[in-house]
Amino acid sequence: MNYSELTQIAKEVKSKAYCPYSNFHVGAALQTTAGEVYTGVNVENSSYGLTICAERTAVFKAVSEGEKHFKAISIASDSPDFITPCGACRQVLMEICGKDLEVILSNGNNEIRILKLEELLPLSFNKDILDL
Ligand code: THU
Repeated sequence: MNYSELTQIAKEVKSKAYCPYSNFHVGAALQTTAGEVYTGVNVENSSYGLTICAERTAVFKAVSEGEKHFKAISIASDSPDFITPCGACRQVLMEICGKDLEVILSNGNNEIRILKLEELLPLSFNKDILDL
């Protein structure tokens, strides 16, 4: 599956977001190195801080199914601008997917931008530093 197809999945799934407070629908599609795709949406809560982003939903679904190796994540919203993962999601993606994960950003003009996670989270604090 190419990155436009992965982005199409992220765009489609965003309609399932539970976002009555922000009304900002986000969809994510996480691709494993074996080609499986796990989707995620943002799920909000009346206690706002409990909200989970689409990216982390996708990561936690995949990890729960035993996945360990990831190639790319595509993120989509209804915004005309490119949407990027929040800081918390960048840290979780670094932990689970690693610095070489390809992050596919999309905007409302059907354009995509491809970045390595390391570019979005340079000089990260990560498990290598703990030396366990
Ligand atoms: N959100 C995501 O799901 N992913 C992002 O990359 C940025 C923000 C969600 C959280 C919240 O439900 C809504 O978008 C507005 O911040």
